[in-house]
Amino acid sequence: MCGIVGYTGPKQAYPIVLKGLQRLEYRGYDSSGVALLKDGKLSVYKKKGKVAELEQEMLQKDSSAHIGIGHTRWATHGEPSDRNAHPHRSANGRFAMIHNGIIENYAQLKNELVSKGYSFSSDTDTEVLLNFIEHIQTNNNCDVEEALRIALKRVTGAYCILLIDEQDPDTIIAARKGSPLVIGVGKGEHFLASDASPIIEYTKEVVYVNDYELAIVKPDQLILKNLGNEKITPYITTLDMELAAIEKGGYDHFMLKEIFEQPSTIYDCLRGRLDANAGTITMGGIEKNFEQLINANRIMIVACGTSWHAGLVAEYIIEEICRIPVEVEYASEFRYRNPIVNKGDVIIAISQSGETADTLVALEKAKENGAFIFGVVNVVGSSIARISHAGAYTHAGHEIGVASTKAFTGQLAVLMMMALKMAIKKGTITQERYQQLLNELQDVPEKVNAILKNAEELKTIAHKYKDAGDFLFLGRGYNFPIALEGALKLKEISYIHAEGYPAAEMKHGPIALVDEKLPVVFIATKDSYHEKIVSNMQEIKARKGKIISIITQGDHISPTLSDDVFSIPPADELIAPIISVIPLQLLSYYTGIAKGIDVDKPRNLAKSVTVE
Ligand code: G6P
Repeated sequence: MCGIVGYTGPKQAYPIVLKGLQRLEYRGYDSSGVALLKDGKLSVYKKKGKVAELEQEMLQKDSSAHIGIGHTRWATHGEPSDRNAHPHRSANGRFAMIHNGIIENYAQLKNELVSKGYSFSSDTDTEVLLNFIEHIQTNNNCDVEEALRIALKRVTGAYCILLIDEQDPDTIIAARKGSPLVIGVGKGEHFLASDASPIIEYTKEVVYVNDYELAIVKPDQLILKNLGNEKITPYITTLDMELAAIEKGGYDHFMLKEIFEQPSTIYDCLRGRLDANAGTITMGGIEKNFEQLINANRIMIVACGTSWHAGLVAEYIIEEICRIPVEVEYASEFRYRNPIVNKGDVIIAISQSGETADTLVALEKAKENGAFIFGVVNVVGSSIARISHAGAYTHAGHEIGVASTKAFTGQLAVLMMMALKMAIKKGTITQERYQQLLNELQDVPEKVNAILKNAEELKTIAHKYKDAGDFLFLGRGYNFPIALEGALKLKEISYIHAEGYPAAEMKHGPIALVDEKLPVVFIATKDSYHEKIVSNMQEIKARKGKIISIITQGDHISPTLSDDVFSIPPADELIAPIISVIPLQLLSYYTGIAKGIDVDKPRNLAKSVTVE
């Protein structure tokens, strides 16, 4: 939520900051802006709308400064507008600051400042924090670093801030709590960003800044301190990421590229772990913590959005083959209610970004109560990966499209391997069934590939139904969470209202919506629920609903009940979700495109939700 970039060094800052903002646009695109410092003069330019608007605005401006910060916003406090766009300037004009996060006690701080004569030119919490820093700095006559430390001790909420000072020609001061910050270490230059994508082009050496740390960044110097003013040695890691991974590579959209990458991302996720010939799964994070995991009293899965849907699939699988009770919780609920978490409970946190604020705080809470945290995360080195006791990365690569696709199938593959590994160790699965599922899992990339070859069929279906006002997605058993995911994807990128339901539960409400205009998508693959779902199709057909069904190749019954059909290769029912979701991703993509929507940046959404 909100992307931030900064540069200080010998190059021109603006092109680096601009390109960085374009790469971070998935984090928000309500407005963007830059602050540049040249010859002791601070200039701030900002614009409502996407980064392209800012780029246009900047064409006639002097952008030759060697230090700059930039921001792309997902609005929280104050509507998307030029005046609420970041960077903000302090009342005396000396400082410019950008912020990702929420200052929860901003109203109280604002009242204090108003009573001291301050007035504000935006509705943002950021401007309040900045003026609070300015006030401390002028009042105490201290340096800005000291003022920042004092201010941050008073602040509740989450932040990653970058600040530049008109009186300090080459320094960016940064601080974080709860919102991510990566610093790229170049030769005589430094790059700062919310994630590594703006940095990778220039250097692979990075420092991940931790909560409650302050960074004083000059071209040839990086000083890290805690809020107690003690120095911390920066820990430099080398990025394992290529520039090509964050570019479109010939596809029209990142979302399409990411959908089509799935045969290789799933393969990458399985590679080095699953060896069906040897009958083994190697996962260090599990092996080191076997006792904890297989003796868990229960497993609680905590996640948001698409990752929560992966959790639901995992619940069904783990309960089936590991016989451990599983609960799946929305992180945002978990963190505020009073859940019972005991020693001996295992929490599985699922997150693509590893930065989702609700999930992160839920984990902190569970950790305090003694729970063991296992992270299933895509972004290496992210906050959730670091807070977890152990974990497994999904290895899906950088996901840029706001709607999650390849990260989801990576999560399912990891969770499936986890469940299998635990089940065989626990003795709750037969060797024969275990081996059968290993073989099936190994075949997934090939089956996904086969589906993608027929993508055009889904384009035709999407065009046919693009003007529908509502959609219903129905599935049973392992495919029920996939119905939820299909509905979420469609909502996100086509703006069509859609609901996912367990197919049988549809009788208790949604059936009232069925008429000849309502498209109903059935995920009706051949599994132990198949006859039941066919009956549900009959019920929809009897009420003249339009049926689009995702079926297993060779099924002759479902097509007779359906208006449109898409066939997928046969798969064991435990494995089916990883492949049955693919046509639903494509259906949403093509529907969004048919409606002229910017599917990589759908309105109001952001990829990494670092505010609660
Ligand atoms: C946002 C994204 C979703 C994602 C969810 C959880 O809503 O748009 O695609 O599923 O956050 O994010 P996480 O990074 O924790 O998986």
